[in-house]
Amino acid sequence: MSKAPTSTNRTGRKIGQKVKKAKLKPSSRRWIERHINDPYVQRAKLEGYRARAAFKLLEINDKHQILKDARRIIDLGAAPGSWSQIAAKVTDSTEDDIRVAAIDFLEIEAIPGVKILHLDFLDPSAPDLLIESVGGTPDLVLSDMAAPTTGHQKTDHIRTMHLCEVAADFAVQVLAEGGHFLAKTFQGGTEKTLLDMLKQNFKQVIHIKPASSRSESVEMFLLAKHFKGRKPAEPAAQDDH
Ligand SMILES: C[S@@+](CC[C@H](N)C(=O)[O-])C[C@H]1O[C@@H](n2cnc3c(N)ncnc32)[C@H](O)[C@@H]1O
Repeated sequence: MSKAPTSTNRTGRKIGQKVKKAKLKPSSRRWIERHINDPYVQRAKLEGYRARAAFKLLEINDKHQILKDARRIIDLGAAPGSWSQIAAKVTDSTEDDIRVAAIDFLEIEAIPGVKILHLDFLDPSAPDLLIESVGGTPDLVLSDMAAPTTGHQKTDHIRTMHLCEVAADFAVQVLAEGGHFLAKTFQGGTEKTLLDMLKQNFKQVIHIKPASSRSESVEMFLLAKHFKGRKPAEPAAQDDH
């Protein structure tokens, strides 16, 4: 009679020990099935985009023409990189003349013509580094940032809204006059103070739900068009002495 093996392989399993198939939670199985059957996932593969998110930007652009005159673009929360792929193409960005800067705390595989910052956008050094990297005044700031999910819907919501607000503040500090700001938000989630601030600074502010954004998702996009520009700094008060 042969003896059961006792030595172990590189994975720590005993040689000959059967590998149990990991049991998927029904919600995970549903996600995988939906992903495999998703026409946008299949289209992204065919057209060479890294994510189905590409079609959200393209769809918004079809209607609102935000990419048409963009010469420099900043992409916040860019991994895996499909929006940056589009940004590099529309700006004719090259390694010799970089016109797109992207940031994410997740790694992004190199994209020709895109300066990638592997950093948290909330890090105090991020705004200056982005401006330095894009090589001039951007005329489009994109943010598809979503906070990592905790499982607690309200917390996730608040964190993503915070990212949207910080991105909007950044946009009004860096955009060229006439530029646009597009950011991920949630249905019913945009705070009045944020909307008011955007309405003061842009000629048009709208919410959009692209068809390629899953209908069961509460994701929406906030588009602020035609930045009015920054007021010149007030001259410092004269000292009478
Ligand atoms: C929906 S994905 C972006 C997809 C991307 N637009 C594309 O087309 O490939 C959202 C990204 O936001 C990033 N993110 C979330 N919070 C961030 C932060 N504080 N700083 C940088 N990136 C962040 C996440 O790591 C994630 O990769």
